[in-house]
Amino acid sequence: MTIKRVGIVGSGIMGSGIAEVAAKAGHEVVLRSRQQATADAMVAALEKSLNRQVDKGRLEEADRDATLSRVTATSNLHELADCDLVIESVVEDLDVKKELFKELNHICKDDAILATNTSTLPVIEMAMETHRPEQVCGVHFFNPAPAMALVEIVTPLTASEETIDRVREFVDICGKSPVLVKDRAGFIVNALLFPYLNNAVRMLENGIANRDDIDTAMKGGCNFPMGPFALLDLVGLDTSLAILDALYDEFRDPNFAPQPLLRRMVSAGNLGRKSGVGFYDYS
Ligand SMILES: NC(=O)c1ccc[n+]([C@@H]2O[C@H](COP(=O)([O-])OP(=O)(O)OC[C@H]3O[C@@H](n4cnc5c(N)ncnc54)[C@H](O)[C@@H]3O)[C@@H](O)[C@H]2O)c1
Repeated sequence: MTIKRVGIVGSGIMGSGIAEVAAKAGHEVVLRSRQQATADAMVAALEKSLNRQVDKGRLEEADRDATLSRVTATSNLHELADCDLVIESVVEDLDVKKELFKELNHICKDDAILATNTSTLPVIEMAMETHRPEQVCGVHFFNPAPAMALVEIVTPLTASEETIDRVREFVDICGKSPVLVKDRAGFIVNALLFPYLNNAVRMLENGIANRDDIDTAMKGGCNFPMGPFALLDLVGLDTSLAILDALYDEFRDPNFAPQPLLRRMVSAGNLGRKSGVGFYDYS
């Protein structure tokens, strides 16, 4: 039972990226945003991204056209009814995601797999909102999804082996490298990455070094492609705060307690690249 038709819910940074990956890999993709205009804008952005790849000689025109022909955009959740796999990638808020799983459970066909792209939240809580917890798991793509090789497949206690095998096959077809991880906050990458990012904010707040020197140090000293503040801006400061809150809730480790500066910046609407201002100014 190979996955052919994929539903993506959420039109943010990650929803758009995952849609591009799935459609390029040959899947039919149904993109759902709460507003039709946003869903249509996602398809327009996808077309722009594919055109850039054609201009750079990385994609044939025929492949661009075939990819676009596989994508439909909708504001109606019911259009996901016959998808084999639905990946939700809406805001990192457990109540919102639980409500969405409840709705998807009623709408989607019985053998559909329902997956979440959450960065940290307990997948089991979403699974238990459905009547098919054995068909629920996490499929955690990284940002930007078209460029990043890794996908964490997150297995809650309830997931069946068949579900994980089908999702692993989907990830393989998408050309990504899957790793398996249990349903614990932060999974592998964010559980290791976020104490580092949070401590970088602490270092800045304590005046140990300035933003540019911290970013320069981690690039030059660890060979990282970008420093912690550039990475926080890329992830989004609201998403980063939600990730740290979820990690702290689960483990009560002080390294996960979000730094006050991060919380204040989110309150001020400085969310990083997506809002135009974060630790850096993108305007
Ligand atoms: N940003 C990253 O680097 C990254 C990486 C991997 C996974 N994720 C995860 O992907 C998911 C989406 O993150 P993103 O970075 O794309 O965020 P984003 O802010 O770019 O997009 C969030 C989307 O959720 C929608 N949304 C907001 N409130 C909603 C509601 N009440 N009901 C339905 N939809 C709602 C928004 O309209 C938007 O389309 C989150 O679970 C996040 O943890 C993010």
